[in-house]
Amino acid sequence: MKTNPVSKKISVTVHLTPNDLDEMELKDKNLVVIDVLRASTTIAMALQNGAKEIMPVGSIENAVKISGSLFGGVTLRAGERNSKMIEGFNLGNSPKEFTEDVVKGKSIIFFTTNGTVAIGKGKHAKNLVIAGFVNLSLVVDFLSTLNEDIVILCAAKENTFCVEDAVCAGRIINKMSSLQSIDLLLDDAGIACAMLDKGFGKSILKMLKSSEHGKYLTEIGFVDDLKICAGLDTVPVLPVLTGNVIKLQKEKL
Ligand code: MLT
Repeated sequence: MKTNPVSKKISVTVHLTPNDLDEMELKDKNLVVIDVLRASTTIAMALQNGAKEIMPVGSIENAVKISGSLFGGVTLRAGERNSKMIEGFNLGNSPKEFTEDVVKGKSIIFFTTNGTVAIGKGKHAKNLVIAGFVNLSLVVDFLSTLNEDIVILCAAKENTFCVEDAVCAGRIINKMSSLQSIDLLLDDAGIACAMLDKGFGKSILKMLKSSEHGKYLTEIGFVDDLKICAGLDTVPVLPVLTGNVIKLQKEKL
């Protein structure tokens, strides 16, 4: 039990899937969206490599409509359907594709089956940050400085539980709990995630390889992406939703 008299109780609510979650429930919340495989990782990678902004959209039709009216050359369409590249798009959803020479200075219209849909649910949030293992410590720093109640939303897979997002949520919780100045009040989903991280989080890559989506990505030829997504703090950037685009948080709170 922490005895620090200045520590404030921060309540953490975890949604293990976006299922049945109404946008208005997330209004004015401090929201963390997690899609370890692979949208969170890809977004972090694109922004680290100089993409100007990423516009998450909820459907392929919207991606086509929006990019149609934008200036060619500075706008890219990226994303996936069933984790595979979409016809007519410039990029898929493999973090490997988002290299500096491809994305620097570009606006990216981004659709993914689960990740961008979960982000869309948080469009009325007060703060929305994108988290994966690759930028975990920076997310924890941000949340600790914020020192306010938090909601964590796991993108999951087609509204069913995903172990990798839950373990990542648990790692955020465990890292925050270890800070002397922070006293967390967890819901049951948060307690379960923290325990999952303690049980399965020792080898992130092993955990990703044993996950359903990890196995599927391996089967369709993206095993290298699992290694990238398993990197801890390897892409130290903080993607935040600003208006309707995701950008890097530059200024400290
Ligand atoms: C998603 O948002 O559904 C994913 O990131 C799927 C993937 O491409 O691995």
